[in-house]
Amino acid sequence: MTTPTPPTEPTGIVVLVSGSGTNLQALIDAAADPAYGVRILAVGADRAGITGLHRAAAAGIPTFVCRVADFVTRAEWDAGLASRIDDHAPAFVVSAGFMKLLGPEVLGRWTVINTHPALLPSFPGAHAVRDALAAGATETGCTVHVVDSGVDTGPVIAQARVAVEQDDTEDSLHDRIKALEHPLLVQVVGEVARGERSLPTVDGTGPQGR
Ligand code: GRF
Repeated sequence: MTTPTPPTEPTGIVVLVSGSGTNLQALIDAAADPAYGVRILAVGADRAGITGLHRAAAAGIPTFVCRVADFVTRAEWDAGLASRIDDHAPAFVVSAGFMKLLGPEVLGRWTVINTHPALLPSFPGAHAVRDALAAGATETGCTVHVVDSGVDTGPVIAQARVAVEQDDTEDSLHDRIKALEHPLLVQVVGEVARGERSLPTVDGTGPQGR
């Protein structure tokens, strides 16, 4: 008689958001399937009242807010954010539209996976979709990458391409990018969580799966 193999425990992650949280929602939806292998332990934000936090609360996921304005220095905010993340002991962290640069306390403790709405290294920064349009790019897309200490400079994990249309606005183009960004982020996070993909270690980034 064989003993049934117990189900593998899901990998715990913390997701950081700053806005509408549609990427977070894609992760929440994916994590509803035990086979996905991910448990979202908490969702953190740098501001209160955003839709991303409402999405987390609606899914029964603990939330926290860590505002730069509540700390005297950026370094103290970084340490405060690391402490709030550490409360949940995640294996790794996902930055899904988190609009603050992470500091050495966070990056030194966890691997952080970020999603960015352009084909890095093209159009880094906070206005990637607008910048691609302004530059007259005929193609852009999205990039899932490991965060390092630079602005969208960490090693690329995966990308998806989107054609720019002549009548595109920033919103219409961003919507089409997000349509590919959601499944790409879900795929990468799931593969890392299930141990199917190893990630490069970057300067200032801690070992994956602490
Ligand atoms: C995404 O396109 C992400 O790449 C960028 O900001 C957007 C966040 O969207 N950094 P949402 O909050 O997940 O809807």
